Amino acid sequence: MEAPSASPDRGAWGTRLGFILAAVGSAVGLGNMWRFSYVAAEGGGAAFVLLYLVFVALIGLPVMTSELVVGRMTQVSPVKAVRQLGGSRWAPLGWLFVFCGFGILSYYSVIAGWTMRFAFDALRGAIPQDTATYFNEVGTNMPAVITHVLFMAITVIIVLRGVKKGLERTALILMPMLFVLLVGLAIWATTLSGGGAGYAYYLKPRLSELLDTAIITDAAGQAFFSLSLGMGALMTYASYLKNKTNLGREAVTIAATDFGVAFIAGLVVFPIIFHFGLGEAIGLGGVLNTDNTVGTLFITIPPALQSLGSGGNIIVAAFFIMLFFAALTSAISLLEVVVAAIIDSWQWPRARAAVTFGILITLAGIPSAYNLNILTFADKLVGTFLLMVGGLCTAILVGYRALPQVEQELSIGMENANLRRVWSTMVKFVVPPVLFVVLFFAVKPLWVAFKALIGG
Ligand code: TRP
Repeated sequence: MEAPSASPDRGAWGTRLGFILAAVGSAVGLGNMWRFSYVAAEGGGAAFVLLYLVFVALIGLPVMTSELVVGRMTQVSPVKAVRQLGGSRWAPLGWLFVFCGFGILSYYSVIAGWTMRFAFDALRGAIPQDTATYFNEVGTNMPAVITHVLFMAITVIIVLRGVKKGLERTALILMPMLFVLLVGLAIWATTLSGGGAGYAYYLKPRLSELLDTAIITDAAGQAFFSLSLGMGALMTYASYLKNKTNLGREAVTIAATDFGVAFIAGLVVFPIIFHFGLGEAIGLGGVLNTDNTVGTLFITIPPALQSLGSGGNIIVAAFFIMLFFAALTSAISLLEVVVAAIIDSWQWPRARAAVTFGILITLAGIPSAYNLNILTFADKLVGTFLLMVGGLCTAILVGYRALPQVEQELSIGMENANLRRVWSTMVKFVVPPVLFVVLFFAVKPLWVAFKALIGG
């Protein structure tokens, strides 16, 4: 018999690197490229990027450190961990985490399906010049359902078998490759004529946009999504930690890598958009055509690389294959939160939990495959709003209910008392009020997305 909260890989990270890789694998995913490029395009480029960086440092780092410390301290799944810290009144927070994992994966898998489709079609040389039209064809309806189901099946099989080792080894090779390829593409993008306007859009903020509440909300939400925060994913991974390293430093490593990948992706995408005059196709600037904005990455990358000539399709395929693997390591962490909680709380065997919830999540994602307004809405509701609610509650729980124990655990590995004081001050006095205000701002875009959803 397994212990109720045990997961096959509990205690698996013997080394610091193993843990960091898994955490970076969770953080680096579609959020860094697909989501970052489309939300940055929507949010006026540079203003968004600057605000995003501020949120990563101000909110992301303290919350991430909190999640890591709580996980390592309790050594149980988040549903149990929050109860341990705050009593049974806090149990709903654990289930909110599970709901977020469920909800995000349902549409995340649709987008991950697009990466499979584009990789496959690039290899066949079947991606036409007009990628905007093509994206609308294969990104929705039956073609999207098929790739969504396929991706979920792969995710479930991996979580089911617990072949974490094989996956980790794959990630170990493919993540650095993705990084090298991205840097290569960013360098190549500097040679594009007219790219200057792209860099300006991406890097030179306009003051008015820095105060735009919609952009502020998007930037904060993106920080949570991209760093895998607000739903206990990193808490779960840290619960498999045995060695007592400095978790503040681990948080900085994870966040910096994640930001670096996203930032470089922007250095690729924006010069391409301007060089190829794709602004209109993706709905930049004007009234947004959500269907196309959400496809920014898929619409911009293929024609740009195909312009390189015969090898272009190979690079397009390589790009999407690596993006697929980045998405897979993230999807696994999303499903893992759900599966760990079910094993933990209902005492289900892992196989039953993984298959049952894999199927339920697949079904829940089908509406997102049919209607991109549903996908966008789910992304705003669960992938932005509820993650921030989860982060706010985590900060309140840690800062006001369990601070002495959590700080004690943090001090193992982090000797510097001043740094710990900075962290606890942020958790108590910066994160909750800032998130409260941001959540207030976030209600309106949520409402707009909801109206778009029911109004068509
Ligand atoms: N961070 C991942 C990405 O950027 C997505 C992800 C994985 C995630 N696990 C998460 C987002 C947990 C929020 C919470 O693609």
